[in-house]
Amino acid sequence: MLAQVHTVALEGVVARPVEVEVDMNRGLPVVNVVGLPDGAVREAKDRVRAALANSGFVLPPRRITINLAPADLPKEGSGYDLPIAAALLVAMEVVSQDALDRRLLLGELALDGRLKPVPGCLPAALRGRDQAMDELIVPPDNSAEAALVPGMAILAPRTLIDLVQHLTGAVPLTPVATTSWQQWLGQEDRSSPDLAHVKGQEYAKRALEIVAAGGHNLLMSGPPGSGKTLLSRCLPNILPELSLEEALEVTAIYSVAGKLSGEQPVIGVRPFRAPHHTASQVALIGGGSLPRPGEVSLSHRGVLFLDELPEFGRSVLEVLREPMESGTVTISRAARSACFPAQFQLVAACNPCPCGHLGDPCHACQCTTLQVERYRSRLSGPLLDRIDLHVEVPPVPVEQLVAMPSGESSAVVRQRVIQARQRQQRRHGGNRLNAHLSGDELARHTRIDHAGESLLLLASRRMGFSARTYHRILKVARTLADLAGAESIAVEHLAEAIQYRVNRQFMVE
Ligand SMILES: Nc1ncnc2c1ncn2[C@@H]1O[C@H](COP(=O)(O)OP(=O)(O)OP(=O)(O)O)[C@@H](O)[C@H]1O
Ligand SMILES: [Mg+2]
Repeated sequence: MLAQVHTVALEGVVARPVEVEVDMNRGLPVVNVVGLPDGAVREAKDRVRAALANSGFVLPPRRITINLAPADLPKEGSGYDLPIAAALLVAMEVVSQDALDRRLLLGELALDGRLKPVPGCLPAALRGRDQAMDELIVPPDNSAEAALVPGMAILAPRTLIDLVQHLTGAVPLTPVATTSWQQWLGQEDRSSPDLAHVKGQEYAKRALEIVAAGGHNLLMSGPPGSGKTLLSRCLPNILPELSLEEALEVTAIYSVAGKLSGEQPVIGVRPFRAPHHTASQVALIGGGSLPRPGEVSLSHRGVLFLDELPEFGRSVLEVLREPMESGTVTISRAARSACFPAQFQLVAACNPCPCGHLGDPCHACQCTTLQVERYRSRLSGPLLDRIDLHVEVPPVPVEQLVAMPSGESSAVVRQRVIQARQRQQRRHGGNRLNAHLSGDELARHTRIDHAGESLLLLASRRMGFSARTYHRILKVARTLADLAGAESIAVEHLAEAIQYRVNRQFMVE
């Protein structure tokens, strides 16, 4: 073996160490890539050959073997171009092996030798730090995200020639300045409207506050123009700011998705993702030959907003069930499976019927009973069962819209949400919210007074709640008690929580 260069392979949001080894022998001039390469890695040899030639380094007419080790780790994407080129340069004795012993390399090469951005440079930087590397060498467009990780020099050569000059010591590059998290955290989400602009709709606003406080899911149903989309967009601004730890998790997902840039190297505000109803299963859940996070992971620690819920494909919606329960999504592939975090809050909106006016006092509904039934049957019971709060959003008449004063601002509501979340954190430890509690944790943390217990038993018997529904009602009641600053769950909290399950058009049981 003539050369060995360190790089990484992505497995979910984690970067695993990979070694690129190059061997050259006498024999027919041919380049072989071994070690489970996918199509893109095989293409890499053509790109690397062209990039080297256009930078003035012609491969010798030898039998060249490039091995990506360990062989059992799937390797995808174009990020191996740069480490392969560096290993070939060592084999060609342009740079010394010593120069690459304590450096980690990652990047795609254009045919002219420029470095092009690749996904996953933030996880790569975390890996490099753990391996105590001296330097991480990445494309310029990825340098800001890599420079979030302190303790290692980040170098961003523009071209292969820049890299060679750096490695030989002819023209050393200056390390990129560390990116600070602080300037990106705690900024207000300007795309999110303020709750004060929403007139009336006190019932839906109350539901939004509960959802924000306890991490619950919400379904709003109402006629067109009643303000469902507007209300949903208010949610990010009543949620507490991302903590540093949460921002790191979210930013790593966006890094792997290839969605960070020099201008936006950090995701410092809670994500609000609103995929269109034509979105595919892969777009929503993640996957593909190069497994990339889907919308459920891109909305990790934030909001996944599905507008016009029944318009989404039924099979697309069914795959939401697993991440909604577990907070993670597992994408199984031939040899291994990748796991991405997906702790999102689902907010969904829909009309009560295809024309949208069923139950609207101002407009007559045009739909037949069959049409209404068909529309509603697009949402399965198990999915609806996972949505803790169902609220109706009636239209606000225009005269009232004009006359009504502005309500509470998002900042005021957020203060109450923060206090309710602090109570939960003190009780549960960590940053687990009521919506995330398991059955036995719930039993440990929820004390119900006598009157509350009788009400819950009565309601369960009358409405035939499933065990899941029963637990979800308890979780919402726990959040209501937290918002009220109460130690134990009282009858009024349970009564309100039950009402969000039964006072709705899309019946579950
Ligand atoms: N309560 C309200 N207060 C202030 N503005 C409102 C209110 N309700 C609706 N609006 C105005 O009406 C517009 C349309 O509302 P929005 O798009 O949220 O309706 P929708 O319920 O999502 O309708 P659709 O079912 O057609 O999607 C909003 O952008 C806003 O300007
Ligand atoms: Mg809408």
